[in-house]
Amino acid sequence: MCGIVGYLGNKEAYPILINGLKRLEYRGYDSSGIALFNGDMEIYKCKGKVERLESLKNKDSSSASLGIGHTRWATHGPPNDKNAHPHVSNNGDLVIVHNGIIENVESLRTLLIEKNYSFKSDTDTEVLVNFIEYVQKEEKVSLEEAVRLSLNQVIGAYAISIISKSHPDVMIAARLGSPLVLGLGNKEFFIGSDATPFLDHTKKVIYLEDGELARISKQGISIRTIDSDKPVDAIIHQLQMDLESIEKGGFEHFMLKEIYEQPTSIQNTIRGRLFPEKNEIKMAGLEMISSNLKVANRIIILGCGTSWHAGLVGEYLIEEFSRVPVEVEYASEFRYRNPVINSNDVVIAISQSGETADTLAAIKLAKESGACVFGICNVVGSSIARETDAGAFTHAGPEIGVASTKAFTAQVTVLAMMALYMGKIKNKLTKTKFREIALEINKIPEKIESILKLDSAIKTISKSLKGFNNSLFLGRGFNFPVALEGALKLKEISYIHAEGYPAAEMKHGPIALIDKKMPIIVIAPLGGLYEKLVSNIQEVKARKGKIISITGFGQSEVKSLSDAVIEIPDTLDCLSPMLTTIPLQLLSYHVAVERGCNVDQPRNLAKSVTVE
Ligand code: G6P
Repeated sequence: MCGIVGYLGNKEAYPILINGLKRLEYRGYDSSGIALFNGDMEIYKCKGKVERLESLKNKDSSSASLGIGHTRWATHGPPNDKNAHPHVSNNGDLVIVHNGIIENVESLRTLLIEKNYSFKSDTDTEVLVNFIEYVQKEEKVSLEEAVRLSLNQVIGAYAISIISKSHPDVMIAARLGSPLVLGLGNKEFFIGSDATPFLDHTKKVIYLEDGELARISKQGISIRTIDSDKPVDAIIHQLQMDLESIEKGGFEHFMLKEIYEQPTSIQNTIRGRLFPEKNEIKMAGLEMISSNLKVANRIIILGCGTSWHAGLVGEYLIEEFSRVPVEVEYASEFRYRNPVINSNDVVIAISQSGETADTLAAIKLAKESGACVFGICNVVGSSIARETDAGAFTHAGPEIGVASTKAFTAQVTVLAMMALYMGKIKNKLTKTKFREIALEINKIPEKIESILKLDSAIKTISKSLKGFNNSLFLGRGFNFPVALEGALKLKEISYIHAEGYPAAEMKHGPIALIDKKMPIIVIAPLGGLYEKLVSNIQEVKARKGKIISITGFGQSEVKSLSDAVIEIPDTLDCLSPMLTTIPLQLLSYHVAVERGCNVDQPRNLAKSVTVE
C-alpha cells in the first residue's frame, strides 16, 4: 500500500528518492510522484510505475538536497496523474505526501470551500494540505505547530511528510495508524514507510509512534506528541537487516526467491527455540504469557489474508496438542461485530507486515477488553509487534513479493511450536509425542529442499493450467486451510478464479461446477484423512474434472485417478501443511509467469494494507 520516502541532507535527493520509491514498489501502488526543493518546488507525478515517473524529470533541473516521494494506492479518487501525490497547497508553499484515509474529509473540504480554497484532485490529501495552510494563516503559528493543530482536527489514519518553500531546511513527519520510520545518517536524514528505501545509507532508525510528530532539520530531529505537544525521548534502533536480503539474488522474481528461501527461513524460525531431546520450547514471548496460557479457556486467533490461513492451521494444531478451544476470525470482522472477549482469553494476532490496519484495530479492541494479546509478526519494530503484550518474530526475513509464501510457513512453524508449548503446560501431550513432533519439525527444512527439486516438473504441470478461468482446491483436516491458501495464491497472481473447499463439502455445491473445463487441485498427503480424499478424488473423476494431486510417494491409487501428480515426502499429518503448501506456491508462480502476469506486484493488491 502507499509508500513514503523523504530526504534532507547534503547529497542529491533525486536518486535517493527514486531508488527509495523502487524499494517501496513491493507494497503495491498505482501511481507515484516526487517533490524536490532547491529554491523552487519541482513536482513530478504520474499514474503507473516509477520508471514512468523517471522519464518525466527535466534533465536540466536543479540538484535539490531536500525532497519527498510517494507511491499511491488509490483510496479517494481513481489512479490518475492528478490524484498522484505530492499535493500542493493553494498558495504553493506546502507540499505533502500521505498514506491513510482522512475520514472527516468532507467537512474539512466544505470549510475550505467556504474560505475560497479550490482543489485540483479528488484526494483527501489535498484537502489536508490546504487545511494546514489555512490553520497556519489563521493562527499565525510555525509550520510545525500548524501541522500539529490541524492533525488534532483530523479523524482517520495517516502517515504524512511535508516540506515547505518558506522552510527550505525542514521536513515534518507525523503518524497515526500508518507506519513511518526515520533514518539517521551522517548529517542527513531519511523518512520511509519502512526502512528499505534508505537501508543502503543508514541502519540507525527511529520508529515514529502513533500520535507523534517529528521536525527534521540538519540540526537533528525533535519529536513531540500531536495531542499534548509534549517532547518525546526517541529511541534509536540499529537495524540488523542487510541490503542483500531485500534484493532478488539472481532469481527472476522476489516470489520465487522467497519460495526457495523456505528451508532457511524455517530454520531461522526454529533456531534456538526448539529442543526435542529436552522436551522444551524456549520462546521468551511465550514465557511472558505462560501464566495466561495456563488458565486460558479459549484462544482467539486474528489475522487477514494468508496470515488468517496460517491461523486456521494454528487452530487445528493448538486444539490437537493442548485441547484448548480456538476460534479463528478475520480481524476486519472481529473489530466491528461486538465480539465476546473474556479477560482470560488469549488472543493471537498474526501479521507478516505487522502493519495491517484491521489487525491492529482488532488488537486494540482485545486489549481494551482485558485479553492478553500475543503477536506473531515478521517485521521487527512494526506497529503490531509493539502493540502486543508479548510475541514471537517469525524471522523469515523481508518478504517483498506481494503474495505471501515464506511468511506463511514461518507463521505455521511458530504456531506449531506454540501448540507444543501449550500442550506441555496444559499436560495434554506425552513426552514421547512432544519429542516425536519436535523432531519432525526439525526435518521440515530438508523435506522442503527436496520438494523444491520438483520445480521443473511443476512448471510443466503449470502449462496445462494456464488456459483455464476457474479452479477448485480441495483438502481435508490440516490441509483444508492449505486448500484455501493454495486458491488464494493462484487467484492473487494469475487472476484465475480459484476456490478452496473442504473436500467433503464439495458435494454440497461445488460439485455442480465440475466438468472437463474445471481443474481440481487435491491435497492428499498420506495419513489423516487420506482414504476419504481418495473417495473425493473418485467423485471428481466421475465428472470428468481435470485432477492434479499432491500426495505421498508411490500412491498408485491417487496416481491412477489423477491427470498429474506431485509426490512429496511424508511427514506427520499435523505438520503436513508446511510441505503441501510448497508445490502450490510453485504451481501458482509458474501459472502466473505463463500467463504473463506481474508476479511480484499483482494488479490492485498491496503488500501492506495500512487502511481498513
Ligand atoms: C495483504 C497481502 C497478503 C497478506 C495480507 C495480510 O492482503 O497482500 O499477502 O496475507 O495483506 O497481511 P499481514 O501483513 O497482516 O500478514
